[in-house]
Amino acid sequence: MAPIVSIKNLTKTYENGFQALKGVDLDIEEGEILALLGPNGAGKTTLISIICGLVNPTGGKVLVADHDVVKDFRKTREMIGLVPQELTTDMFETVWNTVGFSRGVHGKKPNPALIEGILKDLSLWSKKDNMLRELSGGMKRRVLIAKALAHEPKILFLDEPTAGVDVNLRREMWQVVEKLRANGVTIILTTHYIEEAEEIADRVGVINGGKLLLLEEKTALMQKLGRKQLRLELSEPLKALPENLALYNLTLSDEGTALIHEYQGEEGQGSIASLLAALAAEDIHFRDLSTRQSSLEDIFVALVGEKAGEKA
Ligand SMILES: Nc1ncnc2c1ncn2[C@@H]1O[C@H](COP(=O)(O)OP(=O)(O)OP(=O)(O)O)[C@@H](O)[C@H]1O
Ligand SMILES: [Mg+2]
Repeated sequence: MAPIVSIKNLTKTYENGFQALKGVDLDIEEGEILALLGPNGAGKTTLISIICGLVNPTGGKVLVADHDVVKDFRKTREMIGLVPQELTTDMFETVWNTVGFSRGVHGKKPNPALIEGILKDLSLWSKKDNMLRELSGGMKRRVLIAKALAHEPKILFLDEPTAGVDVNLRREMWQVVEKLRANGVTIILTTHYIEEAEEIADRVGVINGGKLLLLEEKTALMQKLGRKQLRLELSEPLKALPENLALYNLTLSDEGTALIHEYQGEEGQGSIASLLAALAAEDIHFRDLSTRQSSLEDIFVALVGEKAGEKA
């Protein structure tokens, strides 16, 4: 199946000469949830703005359902819902009108039942007659999501949807996203909360310095790049690491009561088997063991830190 969004060699240099995107290639599959991670200034909002037709690319091409986002702006924009990073809504309008108006802007007939459903899903129903300026920050953010959903988009871009949103609400939003995906909506979100990507994304992309550094299935990524740790609680404390164990990546805990072995996700099995055999040969016994896998956050920090280091 052709990707719903196809991005080829996309570049963007702003008027002041700043190169925000340096050749991005990315295919987004219909129905997936893609999380884009990257530090401040990485180019995430620029990328989204180009796909949504709000910023013109300098070079390259973006197709949405086979339509060019520059030449066929109207057609592509109709399919897209955007929840922008910044709040830019009329603060004196009511929630109900703002969201309904947003549907009209996209040329759709009014559908009060749909708007009611959206507001209820986002826990905004009790505020429907309030002006936006009377809402809390997190509620305003939810209004932006409601606005983006009002015209029933096929593709939804969420630019940091849960920044400044409390933990409960974040979970509620994740449920809304899941529900949309179940209805076949393709979702692209940017986030600084790595647990958000870990929780809801099918694929994860990492952007830094205007380049897509990595794009991978979340589970495969975590298995492949994730470091694992095996911790062995020793029956008898050790004073030092025996020399014969030097070739294993081992550290001794402070009190000498535990051995910690670090390994990459995939190399694990062989190395652990031979480590355990070597321990037995040294007459070192353990009474308990545990393993721990590094999170996406560790992976992200390692990756962005590494690339940043390369530049220096
Ligand atoms: N209109 C503009 N003119 C000049 N430079 C810009 C403009 N908009 C963005 N930039 C620059 O482009 C780079 C990428 O910005 P962008 O907003 O895409 O980053 P981001 O990944 O969304 O960051 P954040 O996580 O902070 O939202 C930044 O260095 C920014 O200063
Ligand atoms: Mg941004």
